[in-house]
Amino acid sequence: MTTPSPAGTLSFFKDLHPPRSRFREDVLDGLSKPQKSIPPKHFYDARGSALFDDITDTEDYYVTRTELGILDAIADEIAAKAGSGAVVIEPGSGSSVKIDKLLSALDHPAAYIGLDISKDHLITACEDLAARFDGLEVGAVCADFTQPVALDDLPIPDGKRLIFFPGSTIGNFEPGGAKALLETLRGWLRPGDALLIGADRVKSAEILENAYDDTHGVTAAFNLNLLTRINRELDGTIDVGAFEHRAVWNADLSRVEMHLAARRDIEFTVSGQVFRMKEDETIHTENSHKFTIDRFTALAASAGLAVKQNWSDARGYFTLYWLERA
Ligand code: AVJ
Repeated sequence: MTTPSPAGTLSFFKDLHPPRSRFREDVLDGLSKPQKSIPPKHFYDARGSALFDDITDTEDYYVTRTELGILDAIADEIAAKAGSGAVVIEPGSGSSVKIDKLLSALDHPAAYIGLDISKDHLITACEDLAARFDGLEVGAVCADFTQPVALDDLPIPDGKRLIFFPGSTIGNFEPGGAKALLETLRGWLRPGDALLIGADRVKSAEILENAYDDTHGVTAAFNLNLLTRINRELDGTIDVGAFEHRAVWNADLSRVEMHLAARRDIEFTVSGQVFRMKEDETIHTENSHKFTIDRFTALAASAGLAVKQNWSDARGYFTLYWLERA
């Protein structure tokens, strides 16, 4: 893997065979708990992914726009810190807008390695990226990075590694899971390598709740789509109209919670299993943890990572952190 790939083709593809998605198991287990819950990773079917993109365009969801603004402002600084010939590694290859900004800012990046649990999404995203960045070596690794993943034995080119984990995705994990994920990413770093990670900040309940309950109802549609997905894929009989979207700031746990609340007593089946909910009972569908800079620094430290530098927008809504092995 020393020759650059022709446009649109991958230098390598490695399938680490992540276990298949446990949508049915997660839904049946989650609906059987006293506080019903379904993990947020199941939002992202085709419609859910499209709705998430629409969320990032809403006025109320400041997160994506704010992070992109910071990236623009610090592009030259990041390029200087990364140096020439960096190897960019992106767990959960996501928004092309963000990665394009980073790769365009860097000085002759040597390679881009995308990692994702969804093989089809991964290959499409990486091939598209290879076509946009002619001459860049592009590799793809199909893996579930929420489980320990070692990058040993993969044909990753030499060069300073820069792991890019934007979007405050780290906020979707419980504190223990966030620490474990940071430990996995730390395991990919050698001395001098870095992790550039975005994390949303604590701010007023009003701003946070509006961001997760936008006036155009896009986030509501995104949350409710989970029920439509259950009906379609798991032979569900849920009356989606009997549910409403809720977003609540939980100050004690420093997170915005999303719930689907039953508007009335309701009974439905999923995969033949019967479930009953009382009026006002909820299915908890997402946590988005918000961090002060101090709290995020402490979380990083608990995973053996040191914050070398951080950058925020003028309002202090969002922060990008440059982390290295402590
Ligand atoms: C992309 C997972 C970080 O938690 O802010 C947006 C997902 N959920 N609106 C977030 C989301 C509702 C988003 N993450």
